Formats: sequence, structure tokens, C-alpha cells
Amino acid sequence: MKLLIADNYTALSQQAAADLIKLAGNEKAPLVCPATGDTPAGLYKVLVDKVNNKEVDISCWHFLGLDEWVGMNGEDEGSCRFHLNNQLLFPLQVASDNIIFFDGRANNLQEECSKTEAFIRQQGTIDISVLGLGMNGHIGMNEPGTAIDTRSHVGELDAETQKVGQKYFNTAQRLTAGITLGLGTLMESKHILLLISGAHKAAIVKKALEGAISEKVPGSLLRNHPSLRIYLDKEAAQLLAF
Ligand code: PGA
Repeated sequence: MKLLIADNYTALSQQAAADLIKLAGNEKAPLVCPATGDTPAGLYKVLVDKVNNKEVDISCWHFLGLDEWVGMNGEDEGSCRFHLNNQLLFPLQVASDNIIFFDGRANNLQEECSKTEAFIRQQGTIDISVLGLGMNGHIGMNEPGTAIDTRSHVGELDAETQKVGQKYFNTAQRLTAGITLGLGTLMESKHILLLISGAHKAAIVKKALEGAISEKVPGSLLRNHPSLRIYLDKEAAQLLAF
């Protein structure tokens, strides 16, 4: 596990973007799983700027959505796909053939999960997962208590996730379930970049990085991954012991 404590969010975003680009450069057709969320937005902006300046070519990259609210897809303002479209996929002009994303409005959500797992198998593996950490320690929509070997699945959302999730929407939403890549699926990624920013995350960062490795804090399970890089800013790192 490599831990970077950046002076601020801008430095965190720049370093994570540089590492993502470098790691993706080792692959012929990298499969990248970018999380939705406030935290990776800075990284995505750096990447978009570099692509626009022709410093990076992402035409061979494939993008795999991490999660979606059940009952929503990219048509829904505030959905995971909606935000990722605006922050990353539209500005990068990613061809639709190069994107796979859960449709939370699909009639058969189990089929969405099987389709996604089959796509990953067909590509070989996820090369790089860019993840954030929820206020309750969740990864994607793998809530506390989710088993380490879980594949893509639909799960009920914690009360905290239902509450925190409101920040992505202009009007109040009923967020009761999510469709997500599983922890087992994500642990098979070649590389994981975990980005965490802000004082409000300091307590859960301490639990995830210094507490027991436990399903109670899904983020702590990532510590068993052979190629995990964690990017914190000083605010998020403020309770760590060293
Ligand atoms: P955030 O979300 O980056 O918006 O804090 C992280 C998460 O809940 O997984």
C-alpha cells in the first residue's frame, strides 16, 4: 500500500491523475473504473485538460461505471451516470462503445449485474479502479457488512448513504437501493487508487486505514489489495497516528 498525503486537494488530484495516466499507459486498451463523487472530480478535470491539450490520448480506454442508484440511469439528473457524463465522459468525448454502465432503471437488475461481470471477464480484468470512501466506509455501494468476495449486486443502502446521497440532487430523493460492482470484483482490479479529501472524512479514514480490517468498514478491506495507492489531503489525514 502506498500512501500519499498531499498538501491540498489540487495536489491530491494532480498526483492521482498522473498515476492513473501512467498506469493506463502500460496497457494496450485499459479498462478504467471511475467512481462518481465529489472527491475524484478534480482528478477528472486534470485528465480532461491533459486530453484537450493533447498530452494524453484516451481513445483506447474503456470506462466501466462503478455504481448507480436503483431506479435511475443517465437520464436522471443527479444519477451517478449523469455526474460522470458531465465530469468525464462527455468532456472526453468517449465513444459509447467504450462505456459500460449499470442501468438502474432496467427491468432485470440481475441481468445488468451478469452483463457487467461478463464484460469484465471478456476484457480480462479491470486495470485501474478509481475509488472514493463513503462517510460510513462504503466502497461504491458496498455498504458496511458486505462480504469481501461479493460480485456485482443490488443492495439496500444504509441510512447514512441515503442521507449523504441527497447532495448529488437538486430535490429530495428516495434512495433505498443501489446496483454496484462487488468488493470481490473490485479487489481483482490490477490497481486501485483510493482518493479521500476533507476533514469530514478524517474519522472514517482513521478507521479504514488504522482500524481492524473488517467488513464493518468496507474501505479497510482494500488494504489487502497488492497494488493500492491512497491519496489523502492533510485534512483527511489529520487523525492518523504517525
Ligand atoms: P464523495 O463520495 O467523493 O462525494 O465524498 C464518496 C462515496 O460516498 O463513495
